[in-house]
Amino acid sequence: MQYSQKVLDHFMKPHNVGKIENPDAEATEGSPACGDQISIFLKIDPETNIIDDIKFQSYGCASNIATGSIITDMAIGKSIEEAKKITWESAADALDGLPAVKMHCSVLAVDTLKKAIKKYEIKHGLAEEESFSKKTIVEELRKIIYPGVGEDIVTLKMVKYVGFENGVATIDVEIPKFDKYRDNVVEEIEEHLEAFDEIKEVKVTI
Ligand code: FES
Repeated sequence: MQYSQKVLDHFMKPHNVGKIENPDAEATEGSPACGDQISIFLKIDPETNIIDDIKFQSYGCASNIATGSIITDMAIGKSIEEAKKITWESAADALDGLPAVKMHCSVLAVDTLKKAIKKYEIKHGLAEEESFSKKTIVEELRKIIYPGVGEDIVTLKMVKYVGFENGVATIDVEIPKFDKYRDNVVEEIEEHLEAFDEIKEVKVTI
């Protein structure tokens, strides 16, 4: 697998690794795609909402560690509003690219940062807990990367229908029969959505 020099540098000598004692917010997320985990810890100035300190611990692969390193560099000293604008695409660009099959590792790191910020916002009355809806499902599907291209399945217009009724999530995806990632994508949809308490059953049609 071809990694950029920047990915290798951040993987070999990652920045901001560790844990913050008594953080203002923290989040740990796992990837349904590979089972790996990452934790992010934040210290935030309550007057300015500037991220004074940020650390991460990764149990993931080189791409995940490199993304954790680069996004913590990007977020430190920024306001939470600015840090929320960090996307997995901008993180991958800052690393001079990631292999398509490794984009999900970057999504995991950025999603965890966003979760930590969201927790801080809810705790400080800056945001409300969002109620579960079809939109939540679509947002979750945006985290599933089609490994052949390194883009999410919603952006790629592979998702043709999303339904949610009586605890049953119905997802219709379009993937050619011969596609080698077909089972992979279906499995990921099931695993992502089954993690929600509100969803009792996931039906994926292809
Ligand atoms: Fe699991 Fe990259 S393969 S985080």
